[in-house]
Amino acid sequence: MALLIRGGRIITATEDFTGDIYAENETITRIEPQIDPRLVAPGADVIEARGKYVFPGFIDPHVHIYLPFMGTYAADDYESASKASLAGGTTTLIEMICPGQADEPVTAFELWKSKAEKLAAVDYTFHMSVVRFEPHIREQFREIVKAGVASFKVFLAYKGALNLSDGDLFETMRLAKELGVIVTAHCENADAIDALQKSLLAAGKTGPEWHGPSRPPIVEADGVHHLCTFAELLGTHVYIVHTSCEPAVRAALAARQRGVNVWIESVIPHFVLDETYAAKGGFEGAKYVMSPPLRAKANQQVLWTGVKSRDISTIGTDHAPFRFADQKTMGKDGFTKIPNGIPSIQERVDLVHTCGVATGRLGLQAMVDACSTQAAKLFGLYPKKGSIQLGSDADLVVYDPGYHGKFGKECSYSNADYNAYEGWERRGRPSAVTVRGQVQVRDGEFVGTIGRGQFLRREPTH
Ligand code: URP
Ligand code: ZN
Ligand code: ZN
Repeated sequence: MALLIRGGRIITATEDFTGDIYAENETITRIEPQIDPRLVAPGADVIEARGKYVFPGFIDPHVHIYLPFMGTYAADDYESASKASLAGGTTTLIEMICPGQADEPVTAFELWKSKAEKLAAVDYTFHMSVVRFEPHIREQFREIVKAGVASFKVFLAYKGALNLSDGDLFETMRLAKELGVIVTAHCENADAIDALQKSLLAAGKTGPEWHGPSRPPIVEADGVHHLCTFAELLGTHVYIVHTSCEPAVRAALAARQRGVNVWIESVIPHFVLDETYAAKGGFEGAKYVMSPPLRAKANQQVLWTGVKSRDISTIGTDHAPFRFADQKTMGKDGFTKIPNGIPSIQERVDLVHTCGVATGRLGLQAMVDACSTQAAKLFGLYPKKGSIQLGSDADLVVYDPGYHGKFGKECSYSNADYNAYEGWERRGRPSAVTVRGQVQVRDGEFVGTIGRGQFLRREPTH
């Protein structure tokens, strides 16, 4: 089916102009001030975009959908996560494969892929977590890279669970360098957190408000510095996920100054929520427990400024949905048992628009760059994804900046039973979202096809 988007303000990371976009066979084939109607195939889907923006489909470089974690499983599957993503303008997801330490990497890769295959309506790919590294599984990582997964994930946090020893981290990063894949990393010092958690619990400090004090900014900055030291020794390209605070941003930028190839991701909860949310009474704070934790408000401006200056490359979500009623409450008697994560897959783009663009903190092109183009470039998806140009996939978001509404559980597709942004004013929303030329969302409603999403094979580019 052909698609014509007429008269929108087309905004990419580098351009801003008004025109028509035409797509056939899933691909953008014409971009012109006004496309001659005689060139439009009979029966084409025509979307009137006058007065609206047209963005490239947004990419979320950091999500968890199938996630066995902290004694439970994240609440979404690819059906709910796809609907939520698309309603929020995100057309491509990069999910973290997070196996247990006893699992074989290839088996985990096949399992995660099988979860997506039948239910995805978005296009998707994965970062492959390395949670142990023994010589005999080295070959499995080579196979996974050959199968199209061109990025690894490591955890310097979560002692006794996903955390890698320094020896294994070094070997993982050496292999990544050899294969040309980038290493994405959760940077917090696991041992320091473990010790702090134990002393807080021993002092009877068990509520969600103590999660933050158990992982202060310096612990995150230390993790960033540590990873970057290995990257400096080995030449491996690294990407720090969910960078939450000024000391961590500074540690990464200092490494970049020394010549380390390091990129910074921050995630939407850290831009708009602060530590006071995790301190809400009546255990409400558990809804806001994630790692790294929500920080003092002053850090938010550092993140917005970092995106504006392009020091921070991407804005993701770290979508990790856990229900409040029966999952977050697993930590009623101790904050270390509260499953970590704040669902935001549907809200990310609208929050960036509402709190960033509409307040004048961020320009539209910086928004597109951080929420789409940079992820495509860093992870080998560009220019098929992350761009509006001839030959790109027709993943397009027709965005109504004049829409006024509210965020809330009522209009969210995630299986989580709460919305971290409940009742907040919302400025703007996608009025139509296409994936490879097919309309998947109209006016906030999913109208697409479950199972249509494709696995995106990626070549090593680092
Ligand atoms: O709190 C978080 N971030 N939960 C998901 C796991 C991770 O660390 O990314
Ligand atoms: Zn993490
Ligand atoms: Zn994560």
